[in-house]
Amino acid sequence: MEIIRIPRIMQDTSRGHILHSRTVGFVPTMGALHAGHIGLVRMAREENDITVVSIYVNPAQFGPAEDFSSYPRDLEGDTDSLRKAGVDVLFLPDDLHMYSRGFCTHVEVSGLSEKLCGGFRPGHFRGVATVVTKLFNIVSPTKAYFGQKDFQQALIIKRLVKDLDMAVEVVVCPTKREEDGLALSSRNRYLGKEERNAASVIFRSLKKASEAVKSGIINTASIKEIMLAALKSESCVSEIQYGSAYDPETLDEVERIDREALLAVALKVGNTRLIDNILVGPGK
Ligand code: PAJ
Repeated sequence: MEIIRIPRIMQDTSRGHILHSRTVGFVPTMGALHAGHIGLVRMAREENDITVVSIYVNPAQFGPAEDFSSYPRDLEGDTDSLRKAGVDVLFLPDDLHMYSRGFCTHVEVSGLSEKLCGGFRPGHFRGVATVVTKLFNIVSPTKAYFGQKDFQQALIIKRLVKDLDMAVEVVVCPTKREEDGLALSSRNRYLGKEERNAASVIFRSLKKASEAVKSGIINTASIKEIMLAALKSESCVSEIQYGSAYDPETLDEVERIDREALLAVALKVGNTRLIDNILVGPGK
């Protein structure tokens, strides 16, 4: 596995592959890798000649009171798992190369970025859209892989790619979960034992709601009540930021679940912010 730290070198390497008609699959990450990330890598490997993974903890997507400095970092473990997963290139840029002196250009996907998580993390999706645009310009991927766990992020990236005519296909992969349903996340490392057990309530609440939809309860008010009651039954849940049924294209709350809908939750277990979602509706 080749390790590249300089954007210019990454750009030349990728362009070399493309000139030789090789497809490049790209998985952007912030490291502290888990099986969810490796699932994306696997998909990228299956569908492309060359697989590039980036690890970059992007300061621009963290708010001033958020966990940028304490975000888990495990470069040695990550390098090892990526090597084992058969990755061709690991791109590891640093802040000076990504945000050089005088940096002042940002990418804003307005509307979608203010909904759901955007309401609680102002500026977060502007940071994500900007860094992903930069990474796409550096890696020139044929296809880029994102997880459904961050549904809003994937939707924003798809919109960005469409609006800015980027020649990359965005692939969204299913959420990988622990046995009790908790979605894998780098931030799960923050959870103490009791909190970790409590966190399984997130998926349980989504499942209860989806079963209610399947049984014919399609008004969102009732579905929301079912979800929130399950979440509130867990004393480690310290704050529920949102939890309801949303239109999977606009992210607006829907009144009735008579078409495909996104059940999505964001909450804090202790001090750790966690999110999860599932799609429900006809055929799900
Ligand atoms: P990070 O949180 O490291 O996630 C990298 C990718 O892994 C994202 O596309 C995310 O949706 C996916 N992922 C995380 N947990 C997953 C799970 N349990 N199952 C499937 N996929 C999962 O998301 C980011 O980094 C950053 O915002 C980034 C896009 C790299 C921009 O900085």
